[in-house]
Amino acid sequence: MTPNINLSAARQWLSEQTSGQTITASVVLGSGLGSLFDSDTTSRDKHDPLNDCDLLFEAPYSQIPGMPISTAPEHAGVFKLIKIGEKHIGVFQGRFHLYEGYSAREASSTAYLSRLLGAQSIVLTNAAGALNADFSPGDVMLVEDHLNFTGHSPLRGENDEAIGLRFPDMSRAYTPALQQLATHTAAQKSISLQTGIYAGVLGPELETSAERRFLRSSGADAVGMSLVIETIAAAHCGLDVLALSAITNSATGGPDQQVDTIEEVLENAAVAGSKMSALLPTIISQLY
Ligand code: HPA
Repeated sequence: MTPNINLSAARQWLSEQTSGQTITASVVLGSGLGSLFDSDTTSRDKHDPLNDCDLLFEAPYSQIPGMPISTAPEHAGVFKLIKIGEKHIGVFQGRFHLYEGYSAREASSTAYLSRLLGAQSIVLTNAAGALNADFSPGDVMLVEDHLNFTGHSPLRGENDEAIGLRFPDMSRAYTPALQQLATHTAAQKSISLQTGIYAGVLGPELETSAERRFLRSSGADAVGMSLVIETIAAAHCGLDVLALSAITNSATGGPDQQVDTIEEVLENAAVAGSKMSALLPTIISQLY
């Protein structure tokens, strides 16, 4: 572990604060999606598992010993312990990006800490640009697989065999059963889901149009600056992964490519976020 993070200390402190409560799963909320579990009660139907959701504990990352601090816009940097039905879930409101200057080990804190807290699975949400011209801003993409173009890996350096293998398999990094659960839940709720491959880049600058055309030709449907590092770490430590990307802008790099702004990204993240809000509580309540 990099010296400025100490996830065992973070786990120990959280455990003390929550009477040793373990979690079944965790959720990481990405750009513009931070309020996913604060949704307006009046818009919920009576079967929504959020009606039976309690906030048991919350703490800013800055208060958790050994935890990096999130600096990205719209990333609150708060850990919450919630209870949905009978399930205890950890919510990371804000993640650690490589572009903020964090190492890949730091960026993977959400995954490794989830595992230390007892999680079996992790749900990763994020914002992404659409390389696939059939996608529209406001869509939600179920991530089937990824291409790691960041040039980083959280597994570089010494391997802790107690956490995972030196050469972990990545052939099914996004758990097929969780993809089926998401697809099934979306169909039940008549919410349309795109499906595709996520290309992870370092950022923070957005891609040139030539880079976007290259990423598309490499087989990717969406591009973003997160996800891949956490997924590698999650696969390493044995967590099942479900990832949903909020499509926030068109990033085809074609002749009609528009200039991207953070305002547009956040606005469309909210549109996709309302679809995710409708899906996630049901998905989470069925995680094992
Ligand atoms: N590129 C990279 N990351 C992003 C984008 C994009 O177009 N949109 C949202 N996150």
